[in-house]
Amino acid sequence: NNLDVLYRQVIMDHYKNPRNRGVLEEDTVTINMNNPTCGDRIQLSFKVEEGKVSDVKFEGEGCSISMASASMMTQAVKGKPIEEALHMSQIFSDMMQGKEYDDSIELEDIEALQGVSKFPARIKCATLAWKAMEKGLRDKDQSDSN
Ligand code: FES
Ligand code: FES
Repeated sequence: NNLDVLYRQVIMDHYKNPRNRGVLEEDTVTINMNNPTCGDRIQLSFKVEEGKVSDVKFEGEGCSISMASASMMTQAVKGKPIEEALHMSQIFSDMMQGKEYDDSIELEDIEALQGVSKFPARIKCATLAWKAMEKGLRDKDQSDSN
């Protein structure tokens, strides 16, 4: 249907024109993670200032779903408070499990990936960047409180 076509276009746009691609150089948290099923990898670097994800970039190689999802994730969390970024990660996880998710906040392009939940083999592709972001933010939290 039309929604599928629109969603496919959004995914391809993020794949071909990734947002926030690259590596941040200074004062950043860097996370490397791979998808064990295919070996594809992602590197995430972000900067946290005053409790916010003030900047974030990603690098890596992977399928269109994984790269589009990484692009969407960086777009969604950039400038957001840590709590909100983690909340978005929860929303995305619910979406991937086919559960009802909180759509009361602005999800930007993320909803284009909803359909992935019907393809279990692709869910790991779509969640890779989100898992990396979550791990990075939680690790950072720990090191700050030490
Ligand atoms: Fe093969 Fe994602 S792991 S399609
Ligand atoms: Fe490897 Fe999708 S096939 S991340």
